[in-house]
Amino acid sequence: MPVDLSTQLSWRTTTGDAADMLDELQPNILKAHVRDHLQVLLLEFRDGAEARAFLSSVARLMKSARAQLEEVAAFKATKTPGTPYIGLGLTAGGYATLGIATAPTDSAFLGGAKKAAPKLADPPVQDWDEPYRQAIDAILLIGDARPGPVWALRDRIDALRPESVRVLGEETGHGMTNENGDGIEHFGYVDGRSQPLFLTEDHECATGEWDPAAPLSQVLVSDTAAPDPGVHFGSYFVFRKLEQNVRLFKETEKRLDDSGQPGATLIGRFPDGTPLVSPDANDFTYDNDKLGRKCPFHAHIRKTNPRGSGGAEPPERERLHLMARRGQTYGRRLDDPGTDLPPILRPTSGVGLLFMAFNSNLGNQFEFTQRLWANDTGFPITPDGSRPGRDPLIGQCTAPEWGRNGVTAADPVSRMVTLKGGEYFFMPSLAFLRAL
Ligand code: HEM
Repeated sequence: MPVDLSTQLSWRTTTGDAADMLDELQPNILKAHVRDHLQVLLLEFRDGAEARAFLSSVARLMKSARAQLEEVAAFKATKTPGTPYIGLGLTAGGYATLGIATAPTDSAFLGGAKKAAPKLADPPVQDWDEPYRQAIDAILLIGDARPGPVWALRDRIDALRPESVRVLGEETGHGMTNENGDGIEHFGYVDGRSQPLFLTEDHECATGEWDPAAPLSQVLVSDTAAPDPGVHFGSYFVFRKLEQNVRLFKETEKRLDDSGQPGATLIGRFPDGTPLVSPDANDFTYDNDKLGRKCPFHAHIRKTNPRGSGGAEPPERERLHLMARRGQTYGRRLDDPGTDLPPILRPTSGVGLLFMAFNSNLGNQFEFTQRLWANDTGFPITPDGSRPGRDPLIGQCTAPEWGRNGVTAADPVSRMVTLKGGEYFFMPSLAFLRAL
């Protein structure tokens, strides 16, 4: 029976093609893989044949989506630690160097992130960190709960790597937690609370206000270059290094707090992850806050998931823009994000988020969210006709907007988050990689 992409998957009970699909799918796509310690390598291929041999040998070290799910179940049952994660993605240029004629065809993927920069109002490519200005062929992610296995695997992969596969750049991600042990980002807020859920085991059925269930079609696409594209699947992967100006955020948050409007309105959640509109972490909509009195329309989580209240599309179409976010924080800091310190003691650079997300359609998911929601001053469409402004965190425009007589407009461009570089990849099936 063909893989049914129109619905969620039950990984424990599925049989046939869908079961085979899980054996050949990369981990971290259908469910987040632990990656508190993460090494990211940006690679260039100088020789197609050597690169093929290298990728196929790395594929033999990789586990499947099914193995990841079994490891999670074993950890829950007996606390048996899982094995490290390896993720491998290729750019359109990487496919070309490997000589693959049947590469994936998403138009944003084919164009690449550099070409997308103007339409996303990203900083110009010449301002990006050096490795990202170059032509990247592949990305390799190595992640685990502990640093030791990451470095051991990194050494094994280095030993397999021919000189013609060059490391253009590297990033190191480190998970951060608050006093409750919840994962936080550098502004100090709990992250990863809301995700589309693709497995019935993660979410059986909708009972409340917001149903996080999402069909496989929102994250998986057929791997057209694999031996059996009916059974072998992959996912488009967006990677963006987003530097966070923590001092600016904390100054803005404090100014808001002092003016009586909680600083948490920038995010739409309190620092511990509680939404402004509900005591429930994810089972909420904005139905009880149609005028944006509790959670303003510009709040980051309201701009990036209006939960049916965006006003521009029917709720079922609006949901299709959601993607599987798999980010990790980077950069070490001297201050403790959990203690109350004056903003001046917070970092302005060198720390941030390695934003990562899986999509089945980059243009309709990541790019749509960034361009037509976060960057658009008129979204969501409000009942009183007011314009919410850009997302204060990630909203971008090409130049600061100047009002009359040189006075900055009410909604200047955000400098809290700055893109330092990024790229679009396809994470193919293991079957494709082994067959190279
Ligand atoms: C949610 C922070 C970049 C899309 C969140 C949350 C935080 C956060 C604290 C709340 C936790 C949660 O709901 O899971 C940040 C920071 C960023 C960043 C600090 C940059 C440094 C982005 C980007 C996008 C994005 C680039 C997409 C273009 C989302 C979405 C949600 C979210 C879709 C979930 C909203 C919901 O379903 O309610 N982010 N984020 N974020 N963010 Fe971001």
